[in-house]
Amino acid sequence: MKRSKILGVGSYLPSQIWKNSDLEKMMDTSDEWIQQRTGIRQRHWVDQNSSVCTSDLAIEASKKALENSKIKKDELDMVILATLSPDHEFPGTACFFQAKLNVPGIPALDVRQQCTGFIYGLSIADQFIRTGTYQKILVVGAEVHSKGLNKTPEGRDVGVLFGDGAGAVVLGSCEKSELSSMSHILSTHLHADGQFARELWVQEPSMNHPGDRMDSEYIKTANFYPQMNGKNVFIHAVRRMPEVILEALSKNELNTNQIDLYIFHQANLRINERVAKQLEIPQEKVFNTIDRFGNTTAATIPIGFDEAIKAGKLKPGMLVVSAAFGSGFTWAATVIRW
Ligand code: ACO
Repeated sequence: MKRSKILGVGSYLPSQIWKNSDLEKMMDTSDEWIQQRTGIRQRHWVDQNSSVCTSDLAIEASKKALENSKIKKDELDMVILATLSPDHEFPGTACFFQAKLNVPGIPALDVRQQCTGFIYGLSIADQFIRTGTYQKILVVGAEVHSKGLNKTPEGRDVGVLFGDGAGAVVLGSCEKSELSSMSHILSTHLHADGQFARELWVQEPSMNHPGDRMDSEYIKTANFYPQMNGKNVFIHAVRRMPEVILEALSKNELNTNQIDLYIFHQANLRINERVAKQLEIPQEKVFNTIDRFGNTTAATIPIGFDEAIKAGKLKPGMLVVSAAFGSGFTWAATVIRW
């Protein structure tokens, strides 16, 4: 039986930084409110007048991941791209991304599992590698949120939270006999509960709109911006994340103390602090980036990997747990020997 290991990591943040103070006038918000409630100080957004889209950010992160893994793009057997901010409604962003990376012919798969999308993508890649179907898979999480946010006071509850960015990993195959000491993905654990799909969603444009979906009345009245029941999302996040972390630890006969580093999804610093407190994980074992990047949804975890490596916090041989919760609702965790 084979297992998959992370051969290389890369990330990319667009150069324009929007501090909380830059949003104050636009959204009738304040630096104090945003920092207190979320831990966010700033976020990176693409140039709002440019045509830069999700697949472009994914390319930049992937080039770095390929370089770090010393893998040539032509060695890839598959690309998986997780995003909730696709370039176009269809085809999938992975197809645009694959064309830009210039790796024609190999499968290109979109994952639409929002904040949990990267772990879902990692899990799919892991299954293909475990079965021996593929040897090398690129998994990317990328988002351009900034162009889809309501940046008026009406949209401030969601608008201040999200940033643009991308992160990528190259997964390669390794033999089970080498596993005890070698880096590999120990397990992935995926969940969803679609009864809460409308708690955090973009309602329109929708195929359930009767008549011509782009008539002028519809364009004037429909809500094309993300809507969130923040309190309910928060309540479920602080319940589901500890649950799935314990599930992942139990599967591998590990306890929280044996984990060297926790790299969680970055939706709200208070969520991650609450999760750590519930599981009695010391805060210094939790690596957060939300203060600098905001919530980059599917990109938060691979960006976290890359930033933790750069900060000297994530080193070979460490046991790492990642967990995420988000729209869907979806939640997931993975345990990795780095
Ligand atoms: N600036 C200033 N005031 C604001 C803002 C803002 N940006 N947003 C809301 N407020 C106001 C509200 O209007 C409200 O005012 P009121 O008391 O006069 O009515 C007050 O602040 C409190 O609002 P709440 O919504 O109760 O604030 P809360 O403490 O719940 O924090 C937050 C909101 C940060 C969104 C929180 O609920 C949260 O983090 N939820 C989870 C988010 C999350 O995990 N998302 C999942 C991942 S994202 C994905 O999957 C796509």
